[in-house]
Amino acid sequence: KSIVLTGITTTGTPHLGNYVGAIRPAIEASRDHDVLPFYFLADYHALIKCQDPERVRQSTLEIAATWLALGLDTENAVFYRQSDVPEITELAWILSCVTAKGLMNRAHAYKAAVQANEESGESDPDKGVTMGLFNYPILMAADILMFNANKVPVGKDQVQHIEMARDIAGRFNHIYGEHFVLPEAQISEDTAVLCGLDGRKMSKSYDNTIPLFAPEKQLRKLIMKIKTNSLLPGEPKDPDTCALFGIYRAFATKEETAAIRRRYAEGIAWGDMKNILFEYLDDHLKAARERYDALLQAPDKIEEALQDGARKARSYSAPLIRKVRHSIGIRGLS
Ligand code: TYM
Repeated sequence: KSIVLTGITTTGTPHLGNYVGAIRPAIEASRDHDVLPFYFLADYHALIKCQDPERVRQSTLEIAATWLALGLDTENAVFYRQSDVPEITELAWILSCVTAKGLMNRAHAYKAAVQANEESGESDPDKGVTMGLFNYPILMAADILMFNANKVPVGKDQVQHIEMARDIAGRFNHIYGEHFVLPEAQISEDTAVLCGLDGRKMSKSYDNTIPLFAPEKQLRKLIMKIKTNSLLPGEPKDPDTCALFGIYRAFATKEETAAIRRRYAEGIAWGDMKNILFEYLDDHLKAARERYDALLQAPDKIEEALQDGARKARSYSAPLIRKVRHSIGIRGLS
């Protein structure tokens, strides 16, 4: 069986970008019985960006409820919380000992933090950079290598991390023997980057997201807020640079998308397009939103699913970590 693995950091409420870029393809894959999916809540990753315990806790619940409401097949998929599988953080340390610091210097998130310091005239380029942020790609490599994932469905922003996981796996295998599979990123080209309210990539860090299960009223309000240009009704518009169209296309069929593309050429009014998008999304998400709301009222059910997933995950991680420890000369095969 091919192993597919992906995770979401538990720092916020799942948004349309997470859904299109990661959750939806992952759920589709979970129905394929030639695939063994591992899907998890990256709660240790959350600490890098968020030191608000209540937010991390609430976000973990919301993200878990999202996957379950969207119909994740938990019989076939292993669905768990990263922190329930202690072998992962153990592996992260082991991997950090074969990872060149220079490789981490090149990680986007770290480089972006350094650049922001330089641009603001800060004398210390590493100001505000924790070791968690710096080591982030190593923990992510451990997430992936722990289950010898073949494919990792992610948005484009994560591709560099998957490449780093390959490098780290290759380095470990070279020193200690073939223990890890080299993973590959899987990105869906059509919808790789969904834009947010301000036209930039939809991201928690830009505060421009549309929550996947926003109540109907809020969903409408947010869609009305999506930035458009000042072209008037009747003036032809370019769908390919338009956030509204990008979101519509990510949900609609090919035929529906082609029809809307024609309406852009005919000069559709922004107000009309916003209404179309709202109606479409609301219709598409309504049933899952109801299941989501019900699950949030029953956190015990969520916990039960996660505990069950953790047991399954550890039945893979515990034997592998024993092998890994043995290969590096730490403890026997016990
Ligand atoms: P995170 O939590 O930032 O995002 C979760 C997933 O959603 C994708 N994504 C998007 N895709 C398309 N358009 C967007 N606007 C958009 N915004 C987010 C992300 O690419 C990602 O796939 N480090 C990871 C979590 C992680 C992980 C892993 C992923 C931890 N360990 C191991 C895969 C394998 C992260 O912070 O994703």
